This record gives sequence, structure tokens and C-alpha cells, in this order.
Amino acid sequence: MSPSALPASKTYNIASIPADGIGPEVVDAAIAVLKTLSETLGSFDIDFTHYDWSSETYKKTGKYIPDGGLEQLKKHDAILFGAVGAPDVPDHISLWGLRLAICQPFQQYANVRPTKVFRGTQSPLRNCKPGELDWVIIRENSEGEYAGQGGRSHRGQAWETATEVSIFTRHAVERIIRFAFETAQKRPRKLLTVVTKSNAQRNGMVLWDEVAAEVAKDFPDVTQDKMLVDAMTCRMVLQPQSLDTIVATNLHADILSDLAAALAGSIGIAPTSNLDPTRQNPSMFEPIHGSAFDITGKGVANPVATFWTSAEMLEWLGEADAAKKLLDATERVCEKGVVTADLGGTAKTVDVTNAVIEEIKSSYGKSK
Ligand code: NAI
Ligand code: MG
Repeated sequence: MSPSALPASKTYNIASIPADGIGPEVVDAAIAVLKTLSETLGSFDIDFTHYDWSSETYKKTGKYIPDGGLEQLKKHDAILFGAVGAPDVPDHISLWGLRLAICQPFQQYANVRPTKVFRGTQSPLRNCKPGELDWVIIRENSEGEYAGQGGRSHRGQAWETATEVSIFTRHAVERIIRFAFETAQKRPRKLLTVVTKSNAQRNGMVLWDEVAAEVAKDFPDVTQDKMLVDAMTCRMVLQPQSLDTIVATNLHADILSDLAAALAGSIGIAPTSNLDPTRQNPSMFEPIHGSAFDITGKGVANPVATFWTSAEMLEWLGEADAAKKLLDATERVCEKGVVTADLGGTAKTVDVTNAVIEEIKSSYGKSK
């Protein structure tokens, strides 16, 4: 038997939920690239089961996720997600109906958002070169400002009242800060910045600061500093090279990571992982961007964020070598100038996808 005829060592069963807007365009592109990678490397197999859960499904059936849907999803090794949101469905309905309806029950409490300036792409920061902006933002993904606690009373009256209560539990704060220290420890610079707003928010944010100081004792090799979130925006813009791993609450890190994506060149590059670090449930991988109604169906969506998120998924599944190869191939394609309009190029989604497929075949194929 020739080596290529040997059975692949492992088959991963991935749930794909492309959902809305450009989601299907970028998820299709990522699946084509992942299949090529698996065939070319021969070290793993990858199967996809498609779920058509989307705003269209919601409009037809009244539900984003059908009864029993989460149990089906639970059988998979991981979830590859596109984006959810449609012009004719309120955003809070779509987000809570699909994305948060998966993240919260599956306890995907660590949202990991790496950002860097790719070779061949340009940061809008005048003096920032590749390598000088290389961050991982860890976002608390289970509670905080997005815990869903609160309510509205006296609707429509002049005295209408709405509460949006932030929830911070020692349990969840400690597990995310510990996860952030572990992430920082694995990176070369071993530097963690804890972001809060503990001057103005004197309860939950002070708990964060206290827990961070306690957890820091278990990681003597990690240098920790802390920032208030408002000052953090200035530091990200003015001294990007001073940061490495960053941890913040659900809301703060949501905002900071969009800023990070823009500073790295485009939101069309940035990936995100919603991890259940206990591995009791599948984790979910998605581009940071949303459904992008303005470019849907035009074939111009940048698929790089979904390629990078696919690499993050492979790494989580234990395929670190394949993950690195996928990210390297994607970066080399950007370096050659095959980039979409958001990065100043003229390539279409399909051009970038085909270029990455060719790069994988030519760099990692049998002749190499
Ligand atoms: P968005 O990320 O969809 O779009 C913001 C801007 O970035 C648009 O100009 C868009 O064309 C551009 N853009 C986004 N991804 C791109 C890509 N891959 N290539 C090139 N350009 C890209 O954010 P927006 O407009 O705030 O939200 C649109 C919808 O998406 C809303 O319904 C929102 O709720 C939803 N959304 C969903 C998310 C998710 O599913 N995780 C995340 C963010 C927004
Ligand atoms: Mg966001």
C-alpha cells in the first residue's frame, strides 16, 4: 500500500452553520479550502454536516434552531459558523436566536480573538509593520454585560424603564482570567493586560481586578499589567507593540476586538473562536464580521477571516501542523497581492479561495 492509500488517522465531523448574508459565501470558501488541505496532507479527514439555520428559517418557522437542534449539534467535533443577521429581523432577535443560543448553553465561555497584520496587508496605523501588532484578545463569553438579565416595564409611557444588568460571578471571572494567563504563558512574550473599568464600575470590575491579582500568583512567569478600557483604546492605537495577550469583559472585549481588527487592516481578516475549554461541548469558530448586507451576493467578501478561523479550529482539534500550514498558505496569498477590495485589492472571493487552494497544493502536495 502506498502511503497515500493509508487510511487517514482521524475524521473530524464538523457542523456548518453558514446562516445569513455573506456567511454562506465565506463558509463555502472555507470548506473548499479545508477539503483541499485534508486531501493534500492526508493526515486527517474532515466531514461537514450542513444546518440551514438562518433568518430565512426563522421567518418561515418562527425558530432559528429547531426542537432538538442543540442535541444534534452536540454530536459534532466543532462548529463552523458564518454570520447571523438580516435587514428585516431585529438584531437582538437574530443574535439571541442563533449565535448566543449556541454559545450560552454550550458554555463556550472563552472567546478568543487573535489579531495581527498579515504579510501583504497594511495597517491603517502609519508606522505599524507586520509583527508589531500581534495580539490575542480573550473575551469573557458567558455573562457580564450580555448575561441577558434585565427587563422593561411601563412600555410606551414617559416613565418607561429598562434595566440591563451586568452579571459578574467569581466562578466565571476566575475561569476566564485563568484561561487568559494560560494563553499568555504559551506565547513568546508572556505578557497579559487585564482590561477593566474599575474606577467607575466599582463592583464587578473591582472583582475582576482582585481575581486577576489572585490568579497572577499561579503564573509567576507571566508579566501582568492592567488598563482601564478607555485608556486601552489609546494604547492600542499609539503603542500596539506594547501589547500581547489581552483579557476583558464580554462588552469591552467585543468593542476592543473590532478596533483591533480595523487596526490590523480589515474586519475581513479577523477570526474568533468560542471555546468550551472543558471540552464537554463542541466549540464554535466564526469570522468576527457580521452578515455584511452591503456586499452580500456580490462575490467580493473577504474569505480570509473564515480561513483563519478554520485554522484556529484545526488547532483546537489537535491538528496544529495543518493549522499552521493553512494560515501560512493564506498569508502567502495575501503577500502575493491576491486580496479583496477591503484590503485595497481587486480579487473576488473565488479568486482568493482558488489562490489558497493552489498554494496548498503546490506547497504541501506529494511532489514536495
Ligand atoms: P458587518 O461585519 O456585517 O459589516 C461591517 C462592514 O464591514 C460592512 O461595510 C461590510 O461590508 C464590511 N465587511 C464585513 N465583513 C467583510 C468581509 N468578509 N469582507 C469585506 N468586507 C466585510 O457588521 P454590521 O454591518 O454591523 O452588521 C450587519 C449584520 O450582521 C447585523 O445584523 C448584525 O447584527 C450582524 N452581525 C452578526 C455577527 C455574528 O453573527 N457573529 C457579528 C457582527 C454583526
Ligand atoms: Mg462584535
